[in-house]
Amino acid sequence: MKVDTFRTTLEKNKYRLESGTEIFIEEHINVFNPHPISLLLADSVAVNQNMKILDLCTGSGIIALAIAKKFNTRNITATDISKEAIRNAMRNSKINKVNDNIDFRIGNLFEPVDNLKFDLIVSNPPCMPFPKYGHYRSKEFRLAVDGGEIGDIYYKNIIKSAKTYLKKNGRLILPIPKWTDWKSIIKIFKNEFDEIKLISRGAVRFFLEDNLGHFKRNLESLNDRGIVDYQRIDSDFYFEVPIYEGKVNF
Ligand SMILES: C[S@@+](CC[C@H](N)C(=O)[O-])C[C@H]1O[C@@H](n2cnc3c(N)ncnc32)[C@H](O)[C@@H]1O
Repeated sequence: MKVDTFRTTLEKNKYRLESGTEIFIEEHINVFNPHPISLLLADSVAVNQNMKILDLCTGSGIIALAIAKKFNTRNITATDISKEAIRNAMRNSKINKVNDNIDFRIGNLFEPVDNLKFDLIVSNPPCMPFPKYGHYRSKEFRLAVDGGEIGDIYYKNIIKSAKTYLKKNGRLILPIPKWTDWKSIIKIFKNEFDEIKLISRGAVRFFLEDNLGHFKRNLESLNDRGIVDYQRIDSDFYFEVPIYEGKVNF
């Protein structure tokens, strides 16, 4: 597996896409800070100004903000179940002067956009394999990362529901990191969509603090069972993160 040098924070609160777009994010204790995957995903998206776009599970808003800034797109909806995340994302949209480009909504997955259809849905959902008795930072933060025991719960839900919210030739773009049950997720993606293609890939180092031994053991066990797939360099785990695009032809 190739380990890329990844885009990272330039300085506190400032992020830069590979394409050069810079985004300012006011960090919040209970909101997921943009991750290298968030930036890789934002950089993998190509849109034109007329497209209607949904950023599902927007967190700090990074992906919606990046798309608005990079393409000057005005038809973006961004949703999250966390009120704190949406408040933070709205504030970030003002700081980045794209608040007129994005309609922020609070609610569970597609609930806030129930009667809408989009040209593109993009999402970086919670996807960390979370051991049954795992604890991570806070209840609020757990909501941002807990993808169930094999990291697949949100993917399956989003892939199966997305078609209802896509227009003809609409696309769903998802990162499917190899710390999840990626083989099953891709299989479902292929079954549900007409065309699936790999549009980008990167690799990330998994940061697991010393008190997260149970997460490490869970990953080792999933790797032994052939569910996740990592490369170990010293005590670090490196995971490949492919970004897939599914298209509907109806
Ligand atoms: C991994 S974070 C990603 C945030 C952002 N998209 C990014 O890439 O930095 C996942 C986000 O999903 C949100 N979330 C969790 N469960 C959700 C649900 N049922 N419906 C909508 N959003 C949810 C969390 O609040 C969190 O902000």
